[in-house]
Amino acid sequence: MSIPTSRTEETATVTIDQLKCNGCGKCVTVCSDLGFEIINGKAARSEKPVFGCMACGQCMVVCPENAINVTGRCLTPDDLFPFTEPSVKPDYNSLLQLFQSRRSIRKFRDQPVSREVIDLILTAAQTAPMGVPPSDVNVVVLQGKEKVRQFSSDYCNLLDKNRWFVSGWFMALMTPFYDKRTIRFFKKFIRPIYDIYIGSMNKGIDQVTYDAPVAFYFYGTPYCDPADPIIAATYAMTAAESLGLGSCMLGAIHPFIQFGSGAKEFRDKYKIRFKSREGLVLIVGYPKVKYARGVKRTFANVDFF
Ligand SMILES: Cc1cc2nc3c(=O)[nH]c(=O)nc-3n(C[C@H](O)[C@H](O)[C@H](O)COP(=O)(O)O)c2cc1C
Repeated sequence: MSIPTSRTEETATVTIDQLKCNGCGKCVTVCSDLGFEIINGKAARSEKPVFGCMACGQCMVVCPENAINVTGRCLTPDDLFPFTEPSVKPDYNSLLQLFQSRRSIRKFRDQPVSREVIDLILTAAQTAPMGVPPSDVNVVVLQGKEKVRQFSSDYCNLLDKNRWFVSGWFMALMTPFYDKRTIRFFKKFIRPIYDIYIGSMNKGIDQVTYDAPVAFYFYGTPYCDPADPIIAATYAMTAAESLGLGSCMLGAIHPFIQFGSGAKEFRDKYKIRFKSREGLVLIVGYPKVKYARGVKRTFANVDFF
């Protein structure tokens, strides 16, 4: 057994074609599992891999002679593909331009996003790195304004059922257990979120997903690195941007569908298979506004050593 994920526990099978192998040792260099060694001028499986092959596929794609096959953990040699010409790689400046011109979009044109475009976004997002392959990221895709709004409306009903969580009496009860910063965070951020989301939805205004034509919910499993769904969502956001769409990440949904009365029913309705530490909703659509200039951003700290 290699490292377990929700999809597989098996160790992948690695075969080396001794006739093809030229003994270059590139597989030895790239395998982080210490899975290869060179014996008598040919690649061989090492006696002491760290975890057992987790099917990252690096050995297969680095081998100049195509001598290595990895099968298992949702990977086969059929999953390999040739690169497009290196010259079509976006350079730093075009990537930076894409990043700098991106804004969080909360106003969308009344224009559907086609299934073809959704698939392009997912194809790009699936290239995201993951803590342990195969990816344990799950995605719920809400297609069309009505489905997105229904999701928001169900979410607001869920918040409403659990509104006691931000009530004055509960805050007072928890004061001895929470530090000052947490109390302030609840009062200044969490409680207003409940008020705005529920209050607006009651007036027919969707302040949760902003009437977006598409929403993706990226979430993980109890096995995966909590960062996995966030990275996948970031890839999807960048892909959407490159396709002329706008997007906005929504962090306020995931934490509130993990617990409380009605949360399981909500998750079941949307086939959300796992509770997970992290998750993120990404709304996508054609932006209604065009921005005239960019905003310079900074990190809180960058310390060089
Ligand atoms: C992780 C994450 C969570 C976010 N959650 C929300 C959200 O719940 N609702 C919302 O309207 N915007 C949300 N945003 C958008 C931010 O508010 C937005 O990035 C910020 O206003 C900066 O604007 P910009 O993206 O145009 O630079 C989120 C962004 C990120 C990265």
